[in-house]
Amino acid sequence: MNILLTGGMGYIGSHTAILLSEAGHQVHIYDNLCNSNIDTLNRIKKITSKDIAFTNGDIRDTEKLFNTLVNEKIEIVIHLAGLKAVGESSQKPIEYYANNVQGSISLLQAMQSANIKTLVFSSSATVYGNPVYLPYDEDHPTAPTNPYGRNKLQIEEMLHDLAVSDKAWSIACLRYFNPVGAHESGLIGEDPNGIPNNLMPVIGQVVSGKLPLLNIFGDDYDTPDGTGKRDYIHVMDLAEGHLAALNWIKNNPRLHIFNIGSGKSYSVLEIIHCFEQVSSHSIPYQVVNRRPGDLPEYYASADKAKTVLGWEAKRGLSDICNDSWRWIKNPKII
Ligand code: NAD
Ligand code: UD1
Repeated sequence: MNILLTGGMGYIGSHTAILLSEAGHQVHIYDNLCNSNIDTLNRIKKITSKDIAFTNGDIRDTEKLFNTLVNEKIEIVIHLAGLKAVGESSQKPIEYYANNVQGSISLLQAMQSANIKTLVFSSSATVYGNPVYLPYDEDHPTAPTNPYGRNKLQIEEMLHDLAVSDKAWSIACLRYFNPVGAHESGLIGEDPNGIPNNLMPVIGQVVSGKLPLLNIFGDDYDTPDGTGKRDYIHVMDLAEGHLAALNWIKNNPRLHIFNIGSGKSYSVLEIIHCFEQVSSHSIPYQVVNRRPGDLPEYYASADKAKTVLGWEAKRGLSDICNDSWRWIKNPKII
């Protein structure tokens, strides 16, 4: 199938592009490179030995999107483009609403005009907010606690209204848990600009000597070792989740929501120890105050994705650490 990946040059999109291309799909990436690098395209082509089309464009440019959809004979869109830093979303809310919500409206207008009505949307577990119960299943109440999370929920609600208004739409919202890891080639992985906020990229920068030590945000949570626990999902498992979702969604109209997580949680100390073992490097750390807004623990019920899509995470923590380490060690030269 001809598939458009908005934001396909980013961390999750680039891994998904590889998997879809290797599965025989024609992949077209549409990205404005605001948080990615054109080098990634060469790396994707090197891994797949296939041609991947690319348009440098903003999702808010409805006309450019429409022309791309029509000229490339796109059949399905996977919508990953968006700004994703939770802290920044509180400092620059309008930028986030304009990029994420307005950008999604623009995409839907272009799709509607081009009569393309099959969509997979990158949502987030952050829509659930404070757990009322765990694991979060798809029926857990939604109560996001920051503008980024509210962007995701508003887009989901818009997609719901659209699917109710016109039965020709088939939409899958994938609520990702904590995507980590890298492609097993070591050629692509997560490479955030500036000082990262998320645990895995920080560990990567400590191991590679870019940062002197890791700050652990609190060791007094009600968890076995006192540090926060999360559901880390290997980015290639996540990519496989997209493939499963698009294979299923094309025959299943309306809107469907799926958690994409492993169903297990690991603590900060467990991640550190696994990374130390895999890399044979010690990871210096200090315990500091809790980070405002952090939760003690959350993880997915991934039963729906397993039952309906036939998808489940296959890779474990040592795969995550091994693949991340291979990417971190890579000199980043093609
Ligand atoms: P990323 O920043 O690496 O990739 C996003 C891509 O979108 C980038 O290449 C960026 O240049 C592009 N982009 C942003 N705004 C754009 C615009 N207006 N027009 C065109 N391109 C634009 O992020 P990622 O980690 O790959 O995340 C992909 C999606 O998954 C995002 O929507 C994010 O919110 C969602 N998500 C990510 C995580 C995570 O932890 N990485 C968790 C849950 C959900
Ligand atoms: C964050 C986002 C969430 C997003 C997810 C994607 C917030 C509040 N939430 O979640 O919306 O979907 O990333 O991966 O930002 N930690 C440290 N030291 C660090 C960094 C993190 O101890 O330098 C700890 C955190 O306290 C947490 C765990 O590591 O317990 C994971 O943190 P992080 O990778 O930032 O992810 P989340 O907070 O789960």
